[in-house]
Amino acid sequence: MVNAYLDTGIQSRMNRIINPKDNRVVMFAIDHPYFQGPTTGLRNMSKTIKTLLPYCDCLMTTRGAVRNNIALEDVGKKPIMLRVTGGNSVLNEELSDEKLTVTIKESIRMDAAGVAVSVYIGSVNQQQTIINLTEMINQAEEYGIPVLAVTAVGKNMARDLRYLALASRICQDAGARIIKTYYCEDFSKLVDYVSPTPVVVAGGKYTSPPDSLQMVHNSMEAGAVGVDFGRNIFQDDNPVGMIKSIGSIVHENYTVNEALEIYNACLPAASKLD
Ligand code: R5P
Repeated sequence: MVNAYLDTGIQSRMNRIINPKDNRVVMFAIDHPYFQGPTTGLRNMSKTIKTLLPYCDCLMTTRGAVRNNIALEDVGKKPIMLRVTGGNSVLNEELSDEKLTVTIKESIRMDAAGVAVSVYIGSVNQQQTIINLTEMINQAEEYGIPVLAVTAVGKNMARDLRYLALASRICQDAGARIIKTYYCEDFSKLVDYVSPTPVVVAGGKYTSPPDSLQMVHNSMEAGAVGVDFGRNIFQDDNPVGMIKSIGSIVHENYTVNEALEIYNACLPAASKLD
């Protein structure tokens, strides 16, 4: 179908991020060191990327990781969702105190397919983080770069439909092209509230393969276009098995048990990441 009003730059990058054939994506989140330092599974970032890049559709990471940890022969192989906010660390109780950290020109220079901004709705820095989002959207849209909004959740914030839908809808209204949020009960309602903006689901703390695969399955059933998982992949004993089994649910509609068979088939060759 030809659309004379299509925003070609945005759509072309969206097609790199979310496969237009099935409208789905397995995004691999390894942006954690921007506030957590050398966390488990990401101590040897180059190895983690080298091992798992072949199995993801898009890599969500930071400027430093793109520059230092993607092997020369892998540059350009997978679209990058570049994190462009930060400015805080786990040593500070209040993680919401973030600002824009990467310019749009730098993002273009790094060939980012999209840029990611966190918002902390309900935190003391709510306004500042929403302005980070709108400011980046104003700049990024000018160059045809889609912005992914991350509905970050502080320690004291509920991860329920009421809160996550509020945060997600604020991101949509700000102009985000993709929303990343946490899974919750009645998740299909959240997807409906922000439709047609695509929703990807964040993984959260490491749980177990059956539990996290169940969450992937539930998310897809509820209408998410995919997941943006980190710790449940790179902190698992069988990271390749984990990302492959996630992909089987996202792209091939596998059941959790079928996906677990893929996970188990990779176990003999499994090796934990540093
Ligand atoms: C949060 O601000 C970051 O974008 C995380 O990298 C993200 O939420 C995904 O990581 P995980 O699956 O480990 O929660």
